[in-house]
Amino acid sequence: MSSVIRQFTVLSLFILAVRPDGELLDLKCQPTVGIVAQTTDIRCQYKTNGDTIINGVFLKKSTEENFIFQMYGNKIYGDKRFSLENPTNDPSLKISDTMFSDEGNYDYRVVTDRGEQTVQLSITVTAKYSAPVTGTLPVTLKNGRLADLYCNATDGFPGGFIHWFDKHKTNWTINSDLTKVPKDTNGRKSVALSSKLTFKSIDVDLAPFRCVVLNSKYEEDGESRILFDKSARSDEPKVLEPNTTKIIAGVMVIGSLIVGLLFALLFFRRKRSFHRDYDSAKTAEDDSEKP
Ligand SMILES: *[C@@H]1O[C@H](CO)[C@@H](O)[C@H](O)[C@H]1NC(C)=O
Ligand SMILES: *[C@@H]1O[C@H](CO)[C@@H](O)[C@H](O)[C@H]1NC(C)=O
Repeated sequence: MSSVIRQFTVLSLFILAVRPDGELLDLKCQPTVGIVAQTTDIRCQYKTNGDTIINGVFLKKSTEENFIFQMYGNKIYGDKRFSLENPTNDPSLKISDTMFSDEGNYDYRVVTDRGEQTVQLSITVTAKYSAPVTGTLPVTLKNGRLADLYCNATDGFPGGFIHWFDKHKTNWTINSDLTKVPKDTNGRKSVALSSKLTFKSIDVDLAPFRCVVLNSKYEEDGESRILFDKSARSDEPKVLEPNTTKIIAGVMVIGSLIVGLLFALLFFRRKRSFHRDYDSAKTAEDDSEKP
């Protein structure tokens, strides 16, 4: 007799467990990864018979008492950054200008004309890395000499990675050293990345080198190239290039000197020949005057 009662109790508990109207809705929300300062879409859906209408939604953090966002009738309450994708029949949520404080687990209750259901949903918030900044030490590299290549990226979260490749797509990452420095500026979390790729004897023909910044999920956030100065190829100190304007100036000075000299020569010759002509004419005249 008592076992019958026990069986009945178990059965009714089981019925109670599956009975809520939620079973009709079968509401589901995907775990969401948002990006700081961008719009985050939280995809939710329920089984629809075509014309299910949402009467209200209620969203709160699992750890908190108050609702962050509520909508029922035509009224909306709470954080203005939250909204429904389509208030009549799509329970998907949208957060504009996503913040790190949006991260966490939420209880989401959706009430429709076919029943209601509360589900848990989770949001993680990441931040993209800014375009990497590169540099070398020494600033002017020399072929076959010691060289450090730097690639730094900031503002990303959670901490990511930096990978290195040369122009032949050879992976040099294993030779690099990555430093991660966590930062928190007024709740804006980030992990600064600094990667140093060291060569005891660099081959400048491998340039340009490419550093690729990856987020914590190994997705590419950005990249940068390091080109070497042409002078890196020569091992000798830079030979001073002849200055062409100086050469032209020199040619012009020498040229005008030569021209001047030629004029002077011409002038003297003419003067001399004039004197000669004059003298010979005078002699002839004197001769003719002679009786
Ligand atoms: C990258 O970061 C390291 C470590 O903070 C620093 O020593 C280096 O000068 C930085 N390089 C560039 C190009 O910003
Ligand atoms: C490059 O090497 C790093 C470290 O060895 C590795 O994690 C990464 O997957 C490699 N990348 C490619 C594209 O081969």
